[in-house]
Amino acid sequence: MKHSPILIIGKNGKTGSRVNTRLQTLGYDTRQVSRSTTPSFDWEKPQTWRSVIDGCASAYVTYQPDLAVPHAEPAIREFVRIAREVGLKHIVLLSGRGEAGAQRVEEVLKSSGISWNIVRASWFCQNFSESFMLEDILAGELVLPAEGTLEPFIDADDIADVAVAALTDPSHRNKLFEVTGPRALTFAQCMREISEALGRPVKYSTVPIDVYIDTLREQGVPETMQWLLRELFTVVFDGRNSQVMFGVEEALGRPATDFKAYVQKSIESGVWDAEMQRKSA
Ligand SMILES: NC(=O)c1ccc[n+]([C@@H]2O[C@H](COP(=O)([O-])OP(=O)(O)OC[C@H]3O[C@@H](n4cnc5c(N)ncnc54)[C@H](OP(=O)(O)O)[C@@H]3O)[C@@H](O)[C@H]2O)c1
Repeated sequence: MKHSPILIIGKNGKTGSRVNTRLQTLGYDTRQVSRSTTPSFDWEKPQTWRSVIDGCASAYVTYQPDLAVPHAEPAIREFVRIAREVGLKHIVLLSGRGEAGAQRVEEVLKSSGISWNIVRASWFCQNFSESFMLEDILAGELVLPAEGTLEPFIDADDIADVAVAALTDPSHRNKLFEVTGPRALTFAQCMREISEALGRPVKYSTVPIDVYIDTLREQGVPETMQWLLRELFTVVFDGRNSQVMFGVEEALGRPATDFKAYVQKSIESGVWDAEMQRKSA
């Protein structure tokens, strides 16, 4: 008998792509979607949701741009309503720590009547290599509106491992895994570790939040992203999330990956090699 596919929302995302690779390696059938797939799935277009969910057994759900934005809660409420109607049995939601909006969304899922898991993650290590910090690092100086706040950055490979365990092992059902790295670091410490491993200096500088947001505005960054980054750096990054948590151990029975191992892996991939990046562009 053919099994129904596992839906992955966020096909090319930092975690969606990794979850998909792992599931396919394990022999599961997947349906990976985003705005650029056929059929497409767009969080801004609810009319694209039903046909994509229909026929799937379970789903790994990442919300873009972030569960902290005010329209995330009504969107997930509607998503869950449709999921129930078409008979989706299990949802694994990627969530964020210390975000009031994300916690409201978690409650929507927990009270939906669908079996659930929440993977509540700290800041991803991969923000340094696959996201908005990469360009600064390649240019030799990371500039952020963050002073000495400690953050236990998590490796997206660990998040994907936990998500796959939640999707495939029924003994994990209806549990929240709060996942962080094993060590809390400031941005300055992260940049020191990256610089030392790279063998070339990458400076870390701080900037007042208003100046940072003005620069984003001048660069044409959309208003929702400006709002989100202000929220992340002024509210979520106030030290509330500095504590190390043990969701990786709980789900997988092994410790979370250290930042050092992430840095080594990233160097080996060539992602911080400006020359290599230029050639492959
Ligand atoms: N980054 C962190 O440090 C962090 C920490 C904790 C939690 N989170 C959570 O992680 C989630 C993001 O997950 P992720 O980092 O795995 O994904 P991601 O890397 O942000 O996903 C990027 C992909 O999402 C797709 N996308 C963008 N807008 C979309 C839309 N309107 N509808 C559907 N797809 C869209 C894009 O593909 P297309 O262009 O093809 O659509 C893009 O390739 C957020 O909800 C955030 O709260 C992030």
